[in-house]
Amino acid sequence: MKSITASAPGKLMLYGDHAVVYGKPCIVTAVDQRIYVTVHLNEKKGFHLDAPDLGVSGYIKDQKKLGKDEIPKAVAFIEHCYKRFLEKYPQSQGISVTTKSDFSSLFGFGSSSAVTVAFAKALTTLYEIELSNKELFDVCYQAVIDVQGVGSGFDIAAAIWGGTIYYVTPAKIVKPLTCHELPLVVGYTGIKADTTTLVRMVESLKQQEPRRIEHIFDQISNIVDTAFQAMNENDWEKAGELMNQNQELLRELQVSSVKIEQLITAAQQAGAYGAKLSGAGGGDCIIAICEKESMQHIGKAVENADGKHLQVQLHAQGVRIEK
Ligand code: PMV
Repeated sequence: MKSITASAPGKLMLYGDHAVVYGKPCIVTAVDQRIYVTVHLNEKKGFHLDAPDLGVSGYIKDQKKLGKDEIPKAVAFIEHCYKRFLEKYPQSQGISVTTKSDFSSLFGFGSSSAVTVAFAKALTTLYEIELSNKELFDVCYQAVIDVQGVGSGFDIAAAIWGGTIYYVTPAKIVKPLTCHELPLVVGYTGIKADTTTLVRMVESLKQQEPRRIEHIFDQISNIVDTAFQAMNENDWEKAGELMNQNQELLRELQVSSVKIEQLITAAQQAGAYGAKLSGAGGGDCIIAICEKESMQHIGKAVENADGKHLQVQLHAQGVRIEK
């Protein structure tokens, strides 16, 4: 039977975390740690899924029950995406889906967004339905909102468009960065953060102090615009300084942590131009911007501060068909 495999990259937020949920811009880069999803039609009807890397094997669901009953978290994005797809393009035959991952979902590289995008691309290609990037985004973003209820969709956009992009939700603006090298060090805190909880926390902070928080978002928005320009000009010193300013505002949003600060300080003391948390905060990764020549040295400093230096390829290609 015909089968299609698609792959999509993970992501790292560079600037604009949290503010992007409230309509401000952010900058995100695609990380070349990919998730591969294979879809083929089956005779047995229903939705069959094997995602060993996500901890799910032999999962079966009747088409009429998609999105209902108990759904393992790792499967929820694919299942909701399939449900939305069938609402728009009804099909009687069932599908079998298998996934394979280059990376651990622990690092915060966005395994749910990558798996959703790779699945949607493989599925629509299998049925020979041609979607533009924006149409593919809309299907995937709807699934994210169905499952999480919150989120800017920046991770879905990074998985689709790839490279490094300036993004405004929901893909209202997607503008690629023109430079190709990103001298960034990535350090993992060893702590898995829960994005939804942190987004809700900022939401409640905003309810308590709307003016102060809105002012912080406005300042972050300015930083994103200036950083986009600095990066396009390869002005890493300026980009680093803006990273430090962005981190200061994230501290005010109370999403930093002791471990994040420990890794940031280590990177700065080892000569980075600037450093910040990446994503929701609470854990996951920090990023530090520096001269290309000092990347290994700064990576070592992060390791000495009890972090894990993740040597990943950034600015990666977006979703693609593998065979
Ligand atoms: O925790 P991550 O890497 O999924 O990033 C979350 C980024 C937020 O801006 C906090 C939320 C969002 O959906 O944009």
